[in-house]
Amino acid sequence: GSIRRRSTPWWHGRRERERLLSLAQAGTPRYVYRLPTVRARARALAAITAIDQRFYAIKANSHPAILRTLVEEGFGLECVSQGELQRVMATVPSLPHTKILFTPSFAPRSEYAFALEQGVIVTLDNVEALQNWGDLFRGKQLWLRVDLGRGDGHHDKVKTGGKTSKFGLPLVRLDEFLALARSLDITVIGLHAHLGSGVETPQHWKQVSDELGGIADQIGTIESIDIGGGLPIPYTAEDEPFDLDAWGAGLAEIKTAYPAYKLIIEPGRYLVAESGVLLSRVNQVVEKQGVRRVGGDAGMHTLIRPALYDAWHDVANLSRLDDVAEENFDVVGPICESSDVFGKHRRLPAATREGDVLVFADAGAYGYSMASTYNLRDLPAEEILEEGLDDVAAH
Ligand code: LLP
Repeated sequence: GSIRRRSTPWWHGRRERERLLSLAQAGTPRYVYRLPTVRARARALAAITAIDQRFYAIKANSHPAILRTLVEEGFGLECVSQGELQRVMATVPSLPHTKILFTPSFAPRSEYAFALEQGVIVTLDNVEALQNWGDLFRGKQLWLRVDLGRGDGHHDKVKTGGKTSKFGLPLVRLDEFLALARSLDITVIGLHAHLGSGVETPQHWKQVSDELGGIADQIGTIESIDIGGGLPIPYTAEDEPFDLDAWGAGLAEIKTAYPAYKLIIEPGRYLVAESGVLLSRVNQVVEKQGVRRVGGDAGMHTLIRPALYDAWHDVANLSRLDDVAEENFDVVGPICESSDVFGKHRRLPAATREGDVLVFADAGAYGYSMASTYNLRDLPAEEILEEGLDDVAAH
């Protein structure tokens, strides 16, 4: 069939390219996020009228400028740890706590206590929390995350549903949860499901919201239905851009079927992935028994997605972007581990050499936020590009 290619990435622009090369001079590895791209994605989601409220899952990228931008665009923020809650409250103190979700997994009692004190929206996903910490939750209004019995997503490791998954209350324990909640004078006012990340089919969310609507009708006290995040972005030239119109049309049908409930989403990747690139400076180019490898200062400690999920990120030589990329290289990092490979048989200019700047595309989501100091290497730097590209703020 015909392949609809993605539009040219923002970093191909001449001014942007020069700006990135000068930022690389200040040190690499370095993530750079372009805020106009974040705003554009935020506005595309805001145009979907079936959605009543939007939250941003800050685990994807918790850079303060990105949080401020998305709050300006009307988003609430979804957090999964006390650290994320504190980041949000310190960065956007004006955000009402009713626009903060707390959706942790196997969190300690102390973090739930902190979240309740702060008055943010707390989501539980198991009966045991009520059995063991009933005194903490007594009399509260809470949300409930359910497991719809299956997961979905770009890799097995990002599926968050089904029997083998640690997430969500299985429906076979719903009555038990509700009875215990009633005995503690708890009202369950929100119903949540997130089946995984990088889900390709727009109809997925329609199906999820349909199932949640049915469960909400049974429960009787639900005001909001949160259908999670998981929206994909096109990482490869063959990936189709996500069909937001089809997605919105499916959700509009659900809104008609269940008009009583507020429909809520909490995406991460979709909003920030394409805004970000990772810059890496080439350390060495090495030939070994027929394989040419180019290795820079970014590795699996900087961007772990390829090592962890076999994820694809386009790579280019920013110092020679106008040269023909004609030669096969394996692109690697400096970490002493065999999984420290960004990609095999990637086309780069034959002249690629020490000192060149490589750019890894679509690295704005789950890049810096998953970085580590493995091998005692430093965390990467981060940089923001504003509208005019002249207003660059270091972080
Ligand atoms: N809501 C909940 C409850 C989640 O667990 C997640 C992501 C999101 C929302 C946002 O999902 P998104 O819209 O970004 O797909 N590190 C992996 C992705 C893990 C996602 C974890 N939970 C990756 O790099 O692909």
